[in-house]
Amino acid sequence: MQLSRTDFCRLLAAGALAGCNRPAPETTKKAPTMKKESYGKTKGGEAVDLYTLSNAGGLTAKITNYGGIVTHLLVPDAKGQVADVVLGFDSLDGYLGTHPYFGAIVGRYGNRIAKGRFKLNGTVYKLAVNNDANALHGGLEGFDKKVWTAREAGPQSLELTYLSKDGEEGYPGNLTTVVRYTLTDANEIRIDYEATTDKPTVLNVTNHTYFNLSGEGNGDILGHELTLEADRYTPVDAGLIPTGVLAPVEGTPFDFRRPTAVGARINADHQQIKVGKGYDHNYVLNGPAGTLALAARVRDPKSGRVLEVSTTQPGVQFYSGNFLDGTVKGKGGKAYPQRAALCLETQHFPDSPNRPNFPSVVLQPGAKFQSTTVWKFSAA
Ligand code: GLA
Repeated sequence: MQLSRTDFCRLLAAGALAGCNRPAPETTKKAPTMKKESYGKTKGGEAVDLYTLSNAGGLTAKITNYGGIVTHLLVPDAKGQVADVVLGFDSLDGYLGTHPYFGAIVGRYGNRIAKGRFKLNGTVYKLAVNNDANALHGGLEGFDKKVWTAREAGPQSLELTYLSKDGEEGYPGNLTTVVRYTLTDANEIRIDYEATTDKPTVLNVTNHTYFNLSGEGNGDILGHELTLEADRYTPVDAGLIPTGVLAPVEGTPFDFRRPTAVGARINADHQQIKVGKGYDHNYVLNGPAGTLALAARVRDPKSGRVLEVSTTQPGVQFYSGNFLDGTVKGKGGKAYPQRAALCLETQHFPDSPNRPNFPSVVLQPGAKFQSTTVWKFSAA
């Protein structure tokens, strides 16, 4: 049917051709959406999913609600070459086996509590002991081995919730922990932690990702240049429990206030290096706790990739992968030898429940624990 010009104008005036005088809609660039796929089942038969977050900057993160594990982190270098910069496995099976907390959320108490006990309001609590005489990373079955309830909190934001029941691994109080991973267009992974309890308790929740900015399975991290925004650290005893002293890094192999290769002093003749078999120490961050500030910067001269870690936490555990020994076979069956990666676990200081001079890790009913850590990637 052909319309005369008069008919066309009449219809147009009557609104019957609404839209025909508007410019064609622009093809709006849609934010990529999160992909969800089945990741299999735990040994107990619980279904687990894998979520893929991606952004316009070419960064892809894969995260499972089993242990809140960051399984893959695909990061471009300056030439756009993408590498997976985190240690891990190809499938859920690997994570269900024995491994040193690859990519996982650790809690309730990340790091060590001496002799697996602490006193709170006059009661002594006895925890599961899993690291010689001490409690490490939440006990026998910590947050890293739990199936978390997942919710898509935004286009590139995955929210994970876990209720740890009163008495789990010896800790008091029903503790609800919410961890939100958000991938931003500024090539950041932002991790927001929140927790509430119905009884006074202690907590120290963090993420235990192992980074190698050259790509997982691609050599060691001894050439990575590290900067730590810390004038002091917490020296440890033979069981890696802090002595309580906040020691200056000045004049020691622990001084990373200027960019220094991780390997430059890792075999130094220093008592704390010997005790840690390298670096396995908590740094006391200079920035005021509670304010998001730069804690660490890592640069891989080989690929040019840079990771900046900012946090609201008072400390960061710098672990140089000393206990990796090639027995765990990771992605593609690759062995991960000693120092194949490093961890920067933003946290409260180890053994804080037994150290009144350390910042408090006590959470009271009615209060909300909140912390934020940001991993920002770039390349030069
Ligand atoms: C932490 C500890 C290390 C080690 C690893 C896991 O970073 O500080 O001593 O236990 O976890 O192997």
